[in-house]
Amino acid sequence: MKVMCGIVGYVSKQPSEQPRTVVIDGLKRLEYRGYDSAGIALASPDLEKPCVVKAVGKLSSLERALDAAEIPLATSAIGHTRWATHGEPTVANAHPHVSSDGKLVLVHNGIIENAAPLKAELRAAGYQFTSETDTEVVVHLLEQALSNDELFPWDGELPGLDGDEELKARRLFAAMLEVTRRLVGGYTFLAMHADVPHTVIAARRSSPLVLGRGEDCNYLGSDPLAFADYSTDAVEIGQDQVVAVTPTAIVVVDEDGIPVTPREFTVDFLRDRANKDGWPTYMEKEINEQPRAVRDTLANRLDRKGALTLDELRIPESVLRSVDKAIIVACGTAAYAGQVARYAIEHWCRIPVEVELAHEFRYRDPIVNEKTLVIAISQSGETMDTIMAIRHAREQGARVLSIVNTPGSTIARESDAVLLTHAGPEIAVASTKAFTAQIAATYLLGLYLAQVRGNKYLDEIQDYLEKLQTIPDKIRTVLDRADSVRQVADAMAEEATSVIFLGRHVAYPVAMEGALKLKEIAYIHAEGFAAGELKHGPIALIEEGQPVFIIVPTPRRPELHQKVVSAIQQVSARGAKTFVVAEDGDHSVNDFADVVFRVPAAPTLYLPLLQVIPLQVFACEVATAKGLDVDQPRNLAKSVTVE
Ligand code: F6R
Repeated sequence: MKVMCGIVGYVSKQPSEQPRTVVIDGLKRLEYRGYDSAGIALASPDLEKPCVVKAVGKLSSLERALDAAEIPLATSAIGHTRWATHGEPTVANAHPHVSSDGKLVLVHNGIIENAAPLKAELRAAGYQFTSETDTEVVVHLLEQALSNDELFPWDGELPGLDGDEELKARRLFAAMLEVTRRLVGGYTFLAMHADVPHTVIAARRSSPLVLGRGEDCNYLGSDPLAFADYSTDAVEIGQDQVVAVTPTAIVVVDEDGIPVTPREFTVDFLRDRANKDGWPTYMEKEINEQPRAVRDTLANRLDRKGALTLDELRIPESVLRSVDKAIIVACGTAAYAGQVARYAIEHWCRIPVEVELAHEFRYRDPIVNEKTLVIAISQSGETMDTIMAIRHAREQGARVLSIVNTPGSTIARESDAVLLTHAGPEIAVASTKAFTAQIAATYLLGLYLAQVRGNKYLDEIQDYLEKLQTIPDKIRTVLDRADSVRQVADAMAEEATSVIFLGRHVAYPVAMEGALKLKEIAYIHAEGFAAGELKHGPIALIEEGQPVFIIVPTPRRPELHQKVVSAIQQVSARGAKTFVVAEDGDHSVNDFADVVFRVPAAPTLYLPLLQVIPLQVFACEVATAKGLDVDQPRNLAKSVTVE
């Protein structure tokens, strides 16, 4: 199941239309995560109860509902896009959820695992439920805590609030601390109360929450994109922390209510890079951003002596020298990047590398100890399966190094070391530029390990790096030739019901990635196979007209090349329509291929960075030609925050 709701909040001094505008803008920014209903609550000193508006479907339905209602000016607002987990996508189940007296409102991302017993307890205490959600349980728990006269207000100051409001906000803060202690599961909460209209109380565990500072106002979001149009000064909220946000203050405490100083960071780059820039879809834009994504990931990695330095890495070299095995954990596209990386790291560093789907990893009782380097790869840095895998690895004493695209994400924070991919925000659900940036980052890591462990001489590493630096221009060349791929895709869009992808060696994961892209966005059944496996079964699928994509290795590896060319012959002899991805100048494929997509020549290990491009373009174009929602495919959301 893919789940990632969007959460946005805003707190300001004077009633205005701004809270509504900021929250709706933020929810639009987070639309890429996928959702099936949405809602907003607005509070102001003039309102007895927050005004709540919810709608099923896209944000445009919520906007229509807002236009139809009389929406008051507000000082604060919270908003939510919901992906149904507990209960159908209905208005009743949409967030915000409201307390029995209508004064308290709450939005939630995540899953409360002990919701059932808590609900039974609340029912016995007389609380009634109007939705099927686990979130409503939390609203009533907060309501119950607030109704207890013995609840001690949190004993610190909340700057920016008047006396009475400050006291009530400190009570709500204390109630949130008390309630979160009772919860099992993951959550980000934003809560607002009619009596504290200049305050949002928030909390997080294993689910993202970032704050933005403004002038006499503050912002909350499940990712900084939510407020990137308004604030670039972001504040990271850590695991199990609870926050009180007023127009002029952000007060962060740990689970015991002790104030902590949060990490601040700048999100300047997001604003420019999170727009479509004239491209029809984010996916097309992101495919075309790959030269930059890879170049930025590789940039500034050499010290003055020309040695590779990875500044973000905080694992001592002595530890990296003692490593006797690496295990890459990741999911989906990131796992395919890991599979490509295995060939390079084993070849350069001579250590065994396993690649494991993160959700399988801890259940097979893997052999992990302090000499194991676990490498987590994740675009979002919030994939729960990968988070659980790294937690398990660290418990066993392994060092965890993560390759993530989202600074400050949970995986980045919970790792011993981080290597950032600089792909910029990836909005389209189907991952493209993150994949190539991840491969580039794993190559940097592989070369760094080879340098530190003495497997390669400095000049050899420089040679590898120099050739790697030429890849972004070569990706550009492949993109410039993409029209031929589009023509084929347009012609096939209507009739293709099943597509096979074949690759060998590093191109095997590329074949699987090509198939995944087509499944995800074009809803066409597709499989990627190792070309050598063909004769062991899949060749039975080949019949007249079956489309088969074959990724051919460089002819400079004749032992591999010849075998893959023979695979083209075999499927073509059985009537398959063959689409071949081959290097410039490799004419040996011409006689057997129906269509050839050319990529510039490159070292074997770097070819996946070029070969995947036509496959991405193909999937994107087929989905477009079929009139599908390329950026937000059905049943999928950008990040998977449940196991
Ligand atoms: C495929 C895709 C997914 C993700 C996977 C891991 O296009 O996007 O398969 O690669 O869910 O996500 P991250 O990299 O965020 O951990």
